Amino acid sequence: MIVDFLVIGSGIAGLSFALKAANLGSVCVITKKGEVDTATNLAQGGVAAVFDKDDSYEEHIRDTLEAGAGICDEGVVGMVVRDGPERVRELMKMGVEFMREKNGGLNLGREGGHSRRRVAHSFDLTGKEIERALVENIEKCSGVQILENHMCADLLISSESEGRRKCIGASVIDDQGELKPILAKITVLCTGGAGKVYLYTSNPDIATGDGVAVAYRVGAEVANMEFVQFHPTCLYHHKAKNFLISEAVRGEGGILLNEAKERFMKRYEPEKLELATRDKVARAIDREMKTSGADCVYLDISHKDGNFVRERFPNIYSKCLSLGLDITKEPIPVVPAAHYLCGGVKTDVWGRTTLKNLFALGETSCTGLHGANRLASNSLLEAIVYAERAYQYCKKNLVWKTEENLTPNLQKRTVKERIDEEILINHNWDVIRRTMWNYVGIVRKTSRLLVARERIDDVRKEIDEIIEKYQLTTNMLELRNISLVASLIIDAALQRKESRGLHYIKDFPEKL
Ligand code: SIN
Repeated sequence: MIVDFLVIGSGIAGLSFALKAANLGSVCVITKKGEVDTATNLAQGGVAAVFDKDDSYEEHIRDTLEAGAGICDEGVVGMVVRDGPERVRELMKMGVEFMREKNGGLNLGREGGHSRRRVAHSFDLTGKEIERALVENIEKCSGVQILENHMCADLLISSESEGRRKCIGASVIDDQGELKPILAKITVLCTGGAGKVYLYTSNPDIATGDGVAVAYRVGAEVANMEFVQFHPTCLYHHKAKNFLISEAVRGEGGILLNEAKERFMKRYEPEKLELATRDKVARAIDREMKTSGADCVYLDISHKDGNFVRERFPNIYSKCLSLGLDITKEPIPVVPAAHYLCGGVKTDVWGRTTLKNLFALGETSCTGLHGANRLASNSLLEAIVYAERAYQYCKKNLVWKTEENLTPNLQKRTVKERIDEEILINHNWDVIRRTMWNYVGIVRKTSRLLVARERIDDVRKEIDEIIEKYQLTTNMLELRNISLVASLIIDAALQRKESRGLHYIKDFPEKL
């Protein structure tokens, strides 16, 4: 298959870009599972943008820079913040319904690190509402083909005469398990994050860092991989997998309590309390749990009016109730869990990576917006702003040459036997995720990072042998990807000899 645009991933970044790119040429979106199996679909919070008359771009910029702990790209922050409201209006034009005030204005939520209410949201189902609207638009758009159950195995690269390597599409495992090339003039990585590198995560199962891994393997630059954001409040319940309790609950007055029912954030962040930035809240919870030996802390919103809680958080309310927990009457047991990868494939202000014709958008990318710690609800914002930037770049700069050389340099894979023992794969998933959770978590130490590196290196050798020997499966590819991303996180963490933002390392507790 040959297309103009190959978009890998069907979350907010991928679908927003695909809808726009359809004005320029043929678009194929591939997605590993169903089109809505994305991190976007699970996003509860919303999109941060300046809408309140008392808010200002300067304040949103300042909050983003403060959360980013000194390593955001200030030009990028200003650009994203200023473009934000227009892109949110565009979502509304596409049919996204945000919660409104009685006067018709947007109801703006508050989250940690924001000095103002500025989060446009659809109650606690914002991502689902955005994904719904985008999918509906895509279904009406004849220029976009969506291939479900298709996974990118590797990017296809060709060298130009002057030596610069360019991406010409991807080698893809299709829904029959067959490997085939999809050639494209432009390839866009929008595969989301890598939460599955950790044992506990708020992310969906698809979050295996595929975009970062495939880009890195062909030589694209990646950056800031040490900055993994742990969301402070994921539901702690043996029957709940990956269920987030939105930061908006704290934004609406939820308080954190330890086992002794003490509001411990008073000791850590006496001014901002539960609305300090995520790195600080997650670290405080980690400390409380380690000191007391408790399995969780508690998030309590039961002091607020029950009708308000039910109306504002319908999803969280009903999920908890289904587990026997009435959040209008009792505190919610919560723990931090891996939530967002602030690093990723390095891009310029147009979403271009260091490889020609390869773009990266959304959580897969590292644009410079988030620095060492992403401000809450800046990620959906980044995705829509950069989808537009990448589209504008393609519109202005791409002249399709009919004779464009898209000949792939495909390595012939000999026919191999099918793996008969999935346990070989599943065991390694477990080793990686436990090692990362126990040794490369919220609080780090050089000696533990070195242990983790050794373990992950061993696992990577084993995975390479499996891949060499057996017929490729998506499970193997995901395992190879998370193991590579795990080692990129460890190496970056070892290189940063200071504590900054999300990277806290005991040996170097100060920010340089
Ligand atoms: C949340 O609702 O707490 C998540 C929002 C985000 O990660 O930006």
